[in-house]
This record gives sequence, C-alpha cells and structure tokens, in this order.
Amino acid sequence: MELITVKDKTFRISIPEAEIQASIKALAAKINTDLEGEVPLFLCVLNGSFMFAGDLMKYVSIDCEISFVKLASYHGGMESSGAVKQLIGLNTDISNRTVVIVEDIVDTGNTIEALTQQLQALKPKQVRVATLLFKPEAYQKSIPIDYAALEVPNLFLVGYGLDYDELGRNLKDIYVLHQPE
Ligand code: IMP
Ligand code: MG
Repeated sequence: MELITVKDKTFRISIPEAEIQASIKALAAKINTDLEGEVPLFLCVLNGSFMFAGDLMKYVSIDCEISFVKLASYHGGMESSGAVKQLIGLNTDISNRTVVIVEDIVDTGNTIEALTQQLQALKPKQVRVATLLFKPEAYQKSIPIDYAALEVPNLFLVGYGLDYDELGRNLKDIYVLHQPE
C-alpha cells in the first residue's frame, strides 16, 4: 500500500489520477449537452478548485467564460461568533447569465449555500453547481448538486487541490487519511 505523509498525518491512495480524469471527462460531456447555447460563466472557487477547473475546462467544448473567485472568512460586525464567507474577486456582471460554480468538494454544504445566496442576489438566470467531489453522507443542505464528478464517503481527503493545512494541493492523486487498526 502506498502511504504518504502530509505534515503530521499519514494518508493512503484513494482515487488514482486515471479515475479522476475519466470522471472529469464524463462530467464535461454532461455539461456540454446540458448547457449548449447558454454561454455559461464558470466561476471557479480558489484555492481548492484550481486543478479540477484546469482539467475540466479542457473538456468543456461549448462557448463559455471562465473566472476565478475566492471566499474570504471574516467575523461579521453583528455576529458574536461564526465566520461569514464573503465572495471576493467577482468582476463580471452575472445578471441574466447562467453561472456554474466550480468547487473542489461539497461536504456539509455550508460553503456552497453561502456562495449561492450571494450570487442569487445578483439576479443571474440560473446558478448550477459543479464539484469534483461530493460527500452525500455529510451534506445538510437542499441546494441541488447538479454536477458531481465523484461521490465519496465522509472521510478526510487530500490531493488534487484539496489541502491538509494548506499542504498536499499539488498531489495528482487523491489520498484518504490512514487510520491503522
Ligand atoms: P462545506 O462548507 O462543509 O461543504 O465544506 C467546504 C470546504 O471544506 C471545502 O471547500 C474544503 O475546503 C473543505 N473540505 C471539506 N472536506 C474536505 C476534505 O475531505 N479534505 C480537505 N478539505 C475539505
Ligand atoms: Mg480547504
């Protein structure tokens, strides 16, 4: 078994590069069919989605625009606790546009819900969600996850954009936390 160390934890291989790439090609084909003629704006969420976005967009063949945004955590003035995630870096008018959020992973859904609400306020035609990974067992929201390349169990993953304490994003395969019995 291939084991790697990221910072202070051990991980084992979970999803090899070839499987990731095949799932992305299949996802792009679905998007090409569904959104033909829409000229969607793909909004890729940094940092986690950088690798997925790069590979996905090679296989999206319909006319489209691609832009990158970030979510900044800050403590809102009215909130005593809890971080609010504020969308930053959007410099395109999205009114009446088909917007596709490109994310690395949807876990509880808190992030995607916050992001979707902020985008809806700008009156787009529609907002869709494309994510490399989806953890259905952890998901607590009702926003439809339109395009998920792979469904994964509720375990901690690293690689292919996903980080453990900002490390491991550069790995070309996806690894899972290894808990020896
Ligand atoms: P959510 O808001 O709970 O859906 O999760 C949002 C963020 O948590 C993701 O964008 C990731 O940055 C991070 N995250 C969730 N699960 C994992 C994981 O297994 N590995 C690394 N990061 C994760
Ligand atoms: Mg992260």
